[in-house]
This record gives sequence, structure tokens and C-alpha cells, in this order.
Amino acid sequence: MVRAVTPNLDSIDVEEVRRSFANIDDMVYLNTGTEGLAPRPVLDKLIELTTYCETKGQASIDVSRALIETARERVAQFLGVESSTIGFAENATEAVNWVASSLDFNPGDEVLLSLNEHPAMNFPWTYQRNLGRVSLNWFEISSDPDETLANIRDGITTRTRLIALSHVERHQGRRVPAKRICELAADAGVLVLLDGAQALGQFPVDLGDLNVDFYAGNGHKWLCGPRGTGIFYAKSERLPLLTQRHVGVGSTETPFDWDRAGGPTLRQAARRFEYGTRDRATLGAMDATIDWIEGLGFDAIQSRMAALAAIARNRANERGWHVSSPACWEAGSALVSFQVPGADGFALRKYLAEERNTWISHNFAGEVRVSTHYFNTVEEIDYAFEEMDFYLKQRRAA
Ligand SMILES: Cc1ncc(COP(=O)(O)O)c(C=O)c1O
Repeated sequence: MVRAVTPNLDSIDVEEVRRSFANIDDMVYLNTGTEGLAPRPVLDKLIELTTYCETKGQASIDVSRALIETARERVAQFLGVESSTIGFAENATEAVNWVASSLDFNPGDEVLLSLNEHPAMNFPWTYQRNLGRVSLNWFEISSDPDETLANIRDGITTRTRLIALSHVERHQGRRVPAKRICELAADAGVLVLLDGAQALGQFPVDLGDLNVDFYAGNGHKWLCGPRGTGIFYAKSERLPLLTQRHVGVGSTETPFDWDRAGGPTLRQAARRFEYGTRDRATLGAMDATIDWIEGLGFDAIQSRMAALAAIARNRANERGWHVSSPACWEAGSALVSFQVPGADGFALRKYLAEERNTWISHNFAGEVRVSTHYFNTVEEIDYAFEEMDFYLKQRRAA
């Protein structure tokens, strides 16, 4: 059961918080769903560690390797799991690919995939299907969590091996009932892979409590961490199901002591996918990323995000524009999509970015999507809507 959140704009001292985001007052940034912004402490840590690693060469290795392990501990703790279950990928897409390309399939096995996925989830699975490794079956994510669950139940067959879907769907920001999906799957003897790229940083995610088998995410959207911080989770008893395609010195516990003719003995930990040198400075900065979030407090973050998302929905509703995102925070998120009658979402997004330095997104349905993170203000939302009004007025006059 998702805990109810009380929307509250005052849960965060936004003026104070915004002082930590460079450039934030030079633009109207309502697009964390695409790319997040890093606050000053994260940026400072990233620059400090990058300078250290890139100027000290091998002399930095022991320290910087320890930084990754600290980051792994922090991320694992943040997600309610053991650090041995966390691997660092380049991005969420890579983490999904690690599962899709590595899971051993039997002939006839099916993956039940949602029709609402980002290419990050769609492409790895359609590619594996095209390679002839697995069949696909499809279901639709609904705004109604019960309906999503029913759609999944209807899609499971005796051949289903894994269910793959977003924890928060990227266009309308629909949040799926992840724990109930994992329960349903476990009862059916089916694995679950969740793509949490739009979930991590919007609300607390406890992977242990979800009892999910595999999870992919990233640090660079709602967590406000650096790019290059993909997060891969494999439940420890599921790791042996993955026969990875790439291996290297990072895959083994004994980098200096190996059997030249026999090949590597793989670690019994998710980091066995980190086969070669990683960007240790970037990953090290995840420590500061989690410090920052914990400093603000997740209850406060969520309360403000829920309040801002409600205001964005209201502004669209007041204009009679159809809002396709769920009205309730617990079934939705801070991704708010709506149709602007008389405007194509792509053209409107482009106009706002190029002419008004105002950043939102668009989707395939011709809608626009506004992301309201805790650092956004009501004034920014109002400005974006007024500029949309202006765009429409101009078009009508033309
Ligand atoms: C649901 C979802 N999954 C994955 C991604 C891609 O994440 P990454 O760039 O970390 O691979 C996105 C990006 O927008 C997304 O919305």
C-alpha cells in the first residue's frame, strides 16, 4: 500500500533550496522527467572527485574505488537492499539491457511487456525478440492501478517468464501498483523487471519491500545526481539466472589470480557487470546526491512535489485542457501531461524552449508534459501556462 502524502507547498524552503541550483533563475525548468539538475553540493563533489581522479592517475585508484563502494552502500541503503545486489551501469537503459541480454530463456518463453515503455525498455526486449531469443506478449498500463493489475493478470500465460514495465510510466506519469504486481508475479512463478527511471527520487522506493526481481534506474533525473549513474538491482537469488554477455577484470573477485586457460570466476554480486574501468568520480558523487535528498527529507520533497503537480493539473483544467495524468499523487507523480487544443505538443515545446527559455516535454499523443520538482515554484508554473496562452493567441491571430 502506498502511503498517502499530504500536499504542502511549504514543506521546503524553496528560496533557500534554489540558491543551491546554479542557473535555475535564468530559465524556467519544468523538465526533470527528461534531465535533472544537480544542486551545488553534488556538483562540487563531482568536480572535486573528477579533479582528484583525473590528476592523480593510479595514485587515486584505492581512494576512488573506495568511493564507489561507499556510493554503492548508500544507494543500497536508500533502496532498502544489500549492497551486493547493486551494480552501477552507465544509465537505466544499460541496466535493462543487462537483464534482457543475460536472462537465460527456454524455447517458447514469453516476456509480458507494457505497451507504454520508453525505448530504454522497449528496444532491449524487441531486440531480443528479433534475435529469436524470446517471444513478447503485451499489456496496457492504465491510470487505474487495479486495471493495470487486471491487464497483467490477463496477459500472463503458462509461458510467461518475466513481466517488464515502468514503475512510473514516462508520459502521463502513471505509477503502477508495483508491490501487488510483484505478488501476482510471484504467485504465478514469473519474474518482474521494473524500470524506475521516472520513480527514483519522486517517492521512496524500497526494493526489499517490493520484492521485485530486477530493477533499473538512474541518478540523473529525479535524484538530481550526475549523468552516468545507472542503477542495476538483481535480487541475490536471481543473479545466477543472468548469463552476462560481457565480462572483464571487474567481474571477478580475484583480478590478479586467475586461470588463463579457464577464464574468469564471476563474483556473486551484481557488480560483476561492472567489467571494466568506471567513472569513479561520477559514481562517488552519488554519496553527495543521497546526502542532499536525505537533508531535505523525502516526506518534505514529496509533499511539495504533490502540491506543485496538483497546481499544474489545476492550471490546465481551469483552461478546459484535457489532463491525461492521474489526479491523485499515489497513482501518479510529478509528470503532468495535457492536451493544448489547437497546438501540437512538439511545436509548443520547441517554441517555449527557443523563444521563452522554458523547458517542458511533449509526447506521441501530441500532448505536453510538465515536470514539477521540489525546486520549482508556482510562479514558474504560471509563467509557463501564460506563455502557452500567448502562443495560442498568436497562432489564432496569424
Ligand atoms: C521510463 C524511462 N526509462 C528509461 C529512460 C532512459 O533512461 P537512461 O537515459 O538512464 O537510460 C527514460 C528517460 O526518459 C524513461 O523515461
